[in-house]
Amino acid sequence: MLDAELLKKELAPHGQEHLVRFWGELSEAEREQLCADVRAVDVAEVVEYFRRTQETSRTDQQKLDDRMKPIPPHIHGSAVRSGPREIAAYEAEGLLQVSRGKVGVLLMAGGQGTRLGVTYPKGMYDVGLPSHKTLYQLQAERILRLEELAYSRTGRRGSVAWYIMTSEATMEPTLRFFEQHAYFGLDRRNVVVFEQGLLPCFTFDGKIILDGKNRLSKAPDGNGGLYRALREEKVLDDMERRGIEYLHAHAVDNILVKVADPVFIGYCIKKGADCGAKVVEKTNPTEAVGVVCEVDGRFQVVEYSEITPMTAERCNNDGRLTFSAGSICNHFFTRQFLRHVADRHERKLRLHVAKKKIPYVDASGHRVVPDKPNGIKMEKFVFDVFPFSERFVTWEVDRTEEFSPVKNADSTGKDCPATARNDLFALHRRYLELAGGMVTETEEDFVCEISPLVSYAGENLEGSVADAKLRSPIVIWAEGEVPASNGTVNGTAGYINEIHAYA
Ligand code: UD1
Repeated sequence: MLDAELLKKELAPHGQEHLVRFWGELSEAEREQLCADVRAVDVAEVVEYFRRTQETSRTDQQKLDDRMKPIPPHIHGSAVRSGPREIAAYEAEGLLQVSRGKVGVLLMAGGQGTRLGVTYPKGMYDVGLPSHKTLYQLQAERILRLEELAYSRTGRRGSVAWYIMTSEATMEPTLRFFEQHAYFGLDRRNVVVFEQGLLPCFTFDGKIILDGKNRLSKAPDGNGGLYRALREEKVLDDMERRGIEYLHAHAVDNILVKVADPVFIGYCIKKGADCGAKVVEKTNPTEAVGVVCEVDGRFQVVEYSEITPMTAERCNNDGRLTFSAGSICNHFFTRQFLRHVADRHERKLRLHVAKKKIPYVDASGHRVVPDKPNGIKMEKFVFDVFPFSERFVTWEVDRTEEFSPVKNADSTGKDCPATARNDLFALHRRYLELAGGMVTETEEDFVCEISPLVSYAGENLEGSVADAKLRSPIVIWAEGEVPASNGTVNGTAGYINEIHAYA
């Protein structure tokens, strides 16, 4: 027998007894659902979270500006400023660790693609490349190619475990998608899909919102929910079992992402880092990227939504932005560091607040969809563990080689499918030119896609394109990749005029 009084008694000390106010109207099954929903939440903990958000928003933010300092040069490596020998040494270290099976990838794929306007997981998005490969497929194929590269360099075959963090909304469709596509050629035992947690939504005065008479309103706990999920979903145990020591974590939406980047991983290992962040130079103060900086001797990211315009616009004497280390949601962690964070610090992570229009049940039991913000969602951010690092480093890369996210719909003209496609075409064209291919046409509208199964980052192309005259559109497939019949993609006759297959 379910007991309203008991539930009320549990909730009352935390000021949440309103959650049972429709008890009398609920069927037995609905009561069960409500109990399960309430018990899935540590009410004391989340109410404490709410209290903390109130504190943070009142005090910290203003003072933060005065305490922010740019990252010091000694921890700030750069792919652009390093010589080829240094890069080669980092890469060799990264590939060695891949071949030893010590590297895992953590893909953050729990976001809902709201800005892009899709109703399915962003990883399933077809960005409109000639091959119509989705973000998930591009990333899967980069892993496959990297494993081959590591094998060819070291003679040892190691695999990269791929941990995909999803949320309530993205878990099922992601799993189905991978099943439908036979895991894109990866060994399915090396793909671990898990789910991040949820946090209840609150009214501005600290009451958990009811989404239905018997259901709490909940939202994903942010990409920083990673750390709890790593522990609760036994991902850290899995890493331990497989002997994985290093994890490359990144966002799902960057079309150029170098998955399990051996250079970045090698750099972090050689610097003895427990935690690292890949950054690009931020050149525009309003760009929607967080900045990595130092605050009180510790490192952190100040998110684009939280930095004040004055600080974002600050410039050095040379005219460059003072806070220019733009975080691209691309991080390195040792397993040991992750374990430490998950066991010791995860509950203390900062909570970030977003004011939202949250559907709720009003006093008369009707569900209302508000037209202005009526409450908050709380999120943890992946980079909020940086202050716990004992040895933190940053690695700056050229954005034209490594960063072009798909965030928005094409109508915005910024960080959208069209810009991502063009950035990939431009990079792949450059790869061909560096390999000796001759391209005479202008950059504009130049279509050039190289399958990740052929080349991870521009290697393996010389043999076939050196001295060849290349004309757009170019699509380079790996042997065994079957394009749509008679050289057309999705029925667009004549779209592809050159297909090079590589052994
Ligand atoms: C993110 C970074 C920002 C960086 C920018 C670069 C965070 C908090 N912010 O901002 O510092 O400059 O990318 O493009 O990392 N996700 C989950 N679960 C969630 C929410 C998000 O897994 O609950 C995943 C998303 O699927 C995505 C990644 O986290 O892969 C980043 O989330 P997104 O909402 O795209 O972050 P931005 O605001 O663009």
